[in-house]
Amino acid sequence: MMENDRVRERVIATYRRCAGRYDLTSRLYYLLGVRQRALRRTAVEALRLRPGDTVAEVGCGTGLNFPFIERAIGPGGRLIGVDLTDAMLARARRRVHAHRWRNVTVVQGDAARFRFPAGLDAILSTYALSLVPECAEVIARGCAALAPGGRWVVLDTVLPPAPPRWLARAMVRPFAGTDEWIARRPWEAIQDAMRANLADFSSTGLYPGCLFLAVGVNEPARPRPPGPGPGRPGDRHGAE
Ligand SMILES: C[S@@+](CC[C@H](N)C(=O)[O-])C[C@H]1O[C@@H](n2cnc3c(N)ncnc32)[C@H](O)[C@@H]1O
Repeated sequence: MMENDRVRERVIATYRRCAGRYDLTSRLYYLLGVRQRALRRTAVEALRLRPGDTVAEVGCGTGLNFPFIERAIGPGGRLIGVDLTDAMLARARRRVHAHRWRNVTVVQGDAARFRFPAGLDAILSTYALSLVPECAEVIARGCAALAPGGRWVVLDTVLPPAPPRWLARAMVRPFAGTDEWIARRPWEAIQDAMRANLADFSSTGLYPGCLFLAVGVNEPARPRPPGPGPGRPGDRHGAE
């Protein structure tokens, strides 16, 4: 089995195990001083959404960002969430049903194979993209699907500089992070890919060097990297 497939199996096993308590655990971060709701709101605000916009969320999990996105795009907008783990998506579907949102589609699939629909106004990923070994390719594919002026926003984790190995492992294990994740340094790959593919790139360190919020804007004239193009409107979204 390829290393990337092993990563995906570990992710699915981890998030199947924790799906039932995921939302509660997220709230418990307040006890550590991490204001998750405020961070999510800030990430969604950075998308600069307008009513009627179409948004994709990569690694949407249980849909904790959905209320913020829905508030911004309104019933005339469209939200497409993709996630690898069935149990997380079951929670997301429950949330969609409870809120009676009729403009949300959730898709089970690997972000690395997701065919972004063309003409997206915005793409968001919070605490998920660093778990995708092909995160740089996902950024580039997303860029190719963004409408001119569309925005990519990533809120994700950084490993503080040079923690002892045991501490680094203890910090990342609950989120399916492993030695492979530590060695891969996905936060660098994500920001490098955004810098290379988007205009007005900015990245802000949060919670002294543990998180970053990166934002970039699609500039129409910029050349796009090679690779599979975006899906056409009407294409089935999801894993190929
Ligand atoms: C820490 S959770 C974050 C969920 C949500 N974005 C949030 O902010 O609460 C990480 C999520 O990323 C998803 N994920 C990890 N690797 C993925 C991949 N290759 N494709 C799609 N989703 C993935 C996991 O299934 C999990 O739901």
